[in-house]
Amino acid sequence: MGWIGLRDLEAEATKLLTPTIADYIAGGSDDEVTVKENEAAYSRISLVPRVLCGAGDPDLTIDLFGQRISMPVLIAPTAFHRLVHDQGETATARAALATDTIMIMSMASTETIEKVAAASEGRTWLQLYLQPDLSVMESFVRRAEDSGCKALVITVDSPVFGSVNVMFAMDSLICLLVSFVRTFACHQMENRRVESGV
Ligand SMILES: Cc1cc2nc3c(=O)[nH]c(=O)nc-3n(C[C@H](O)[C@H](O)[C@H](O)COP(=O)(O)O)c2cc1C
Repeated sequence: MGWIGLRDLEAEATKLLTPTIADYIAGGSDDEVTVKENEAAYSRISLVPRVLCGAGDPDLTIDLFGQRISMPVLIAPTAFHRLVHDQGETATARAALATDTIMIMSMASTETIEKVAAASEGRTWLQLYLQPDLSVMESFVRRAEDSGCKALVITVDSPVFGSVNVMFAMDSLICLLVSFVRTFACHQMENRRVESGV
């Protein structure tokens, strides 16, 4: 495959994606100050190697909410996985299962909670944006519970969205809107199906 670092992986991914979608994933709001600062913050964290303290397999496993996972690294919630892969969040869930960690499934997913939770065999948590209509929240929470999700992750920093640098023009917005409408329609249909027990 020929990549060793995250930059190489990003370059490979960019080759496979349309510019619109690559920009949606990599771009930030306004002057992208937060994106740059997030990256800079990670680069300030150093791993200190421990030497002369014995060989062996280091144990990176941790317990989180009663689940033991292979490492203290989880898959952060990101929306619309079917923009980049036809199996969408189900494929990401299988990656979580294969690496024995947790996938935090976005509320704006393009697959249903039930399908994703089943594909990860219980290694899914659900991310939620607070909704003015609490019955919508409740329905998501119940379905997460019934699907075996062990935790909810509430995102509180998106009451308004920043303005995206729309260098990739209107088609990106249309593409995202279509996907978002599909996601919600899909969740609503699933809700009705689950509630009516058919
Ligand atoms: C393409 C993309 C989609 C995202 N979608 C969501 C989402 O649906 N829900 C959410 O809570 N966060 C979402 N995020 C935010 C990420 O989960 C994460 O918090 C953010 O990228 C900063 O993480 P980092 O600085 O650790 O990389 C998204 C981020 C990106 C880049």
